[in-house]
Amino acid sequence: MATLYQNIINEFGTPLYLYNGDKTIQQFQKIQNAFPDVKLKIKYAMKALNNINILKLLRSQGAGIDAVSIQEVYLALRAGYKPHEIIFTPNSIGFEELTEAIDQGVQINIDNLTLLEKFGAKYQHNYPCCIRINPHIMAGGNTNISVGHIDSKFGVSIHQIRHVERIVKNYGIHVNGLHMHTGSDILDADIFLLGAEIIFQAARSFDKLNFIDFGSGFKVAYKDGDVETDIDKVGSIISRAFKEFCENYGRELELWFEPGKFIVSASGELLVKSNVVKQTTSTVFVGVDSGQNHLLRPMMYNAYHEIENITNLKGDKKLYTIVGNICETDTFGYDRFLNEVREGDILSIKNAGAYGFSMSNQYNSRPRPAEVLVLNGKYHLIRRRENMEDLTRNEIELSSDCLSAL
Ligand SMILES: Cc1ncc(COP(=O)(O)O)c(C=O)c1O
Repeated sequence: MATLYQNIINEFGTPLYLYNGDKTIQQFQKIQNAFPDVKLKIKYAMKALNNINILKLLRSQGAGIDAVSIQEVYLALRAGYKPHEIIFTPNSIGFEELTEAIDQGVQINIDNLTLLEKFGAKYQHNYPCCIRINPHIMAGGNTNISVGHIDSKFGVSIHQIRHVERIVKNYGIHVNGLHMHTGSDILDADIFLLGAEIIFQAARSFDKLNFIDFGSGFKVAYKDGDVETDIDKVGSIISRAFKEFCENYGRELELWFEPGKFIVSASGELLVKSNVVKQTTSTVFVGVDSGQNHLLRPMMYNAYHEIENITNLKGDKKLYTIVGNICETDTFGYDRFLNEVREGDILSIKNAGAYGFSMSNQYNSRPRPAEVLVLNGKYHLIRRRENMEDLTRNEIELSSDCLSAL
């Protein structure tokens, strides 16, 4: 095992999230460099990974933030982002949450007509807003992550633009941006263009736009031979179409994207220890000291994560099913060829940077892992491992009198 891994594991144990900050920066810069001659703004979708150090690292590269809850807004402000650098794109929120975001001065993004009317009635032209449009296109890796189609709960239907216009006119609302996000794991550059053309059409109804936000959906590679979205191709197609649109619109607008996965997925891995190698009648299970409570994606989305035995790189390849310790079917990977796994070996589960720690929980009363960031060859603990105290922190224990009265 490489010395860096060895030192990190000796010091902090497993399970552990390990992030490569340099790789994160590289991915961010790939996007930054892919859109020639347009005013590009990248709003990092912090739901993917929200550790304050990752937020600060990306801020140092010029990122803004895509926040989906008022709590994410506060975390982004705490990490040093200016309110105008944050776009707040919630769904199913009450009006109070929207006004709280407005009080913080962030760019708001409204995704339904009821909220738009309430907003108009209270703020009229005094605070700008963006509107999330649902373009009704099917895009993305699977139905859980396709969010721009006709059955999706997100956004205002493109067919309701006339209704939006009425509300905007009646209340004098200042619409300064349009937004769409059609899904994650989109490989085909033309899908981005399809969505863009629909948004350009809608944009004609609003004459005070400053930006169009094209959401995200950039795919990453999960295994050998897999490919990520050709970001340069998307960049050149969208930039060209955007410039043409701006010429017709009569003004140069900003072009926004809000990627999460593309920036942090591949830079993260979850390091786990093999506790048990268990031969059954049909398979050989490797049972590890982590589970779906720490990395939900395989069980929730059927997501594929490459797995490597980093402590026996020269061992013979054998077939294993890698499972977690949660009391449910809790499988990280079926039928994987790994270098022979022995008890105590360390496995690296790849592509765990996005929607890994941020979706983790304490199910089965198991604490969340530590997080470690490697930058310039040096490692730093950026979140300590949870302990028993963290499991009961918010619990309120009733007195025995009270309980016996039940
Ligand atoms: C509105 C919005 N923007 C951006 C993202 C980030 O998507 P990805 O992580 O695929 O880049 C998401 C993901 O759920 C989203 O819902």
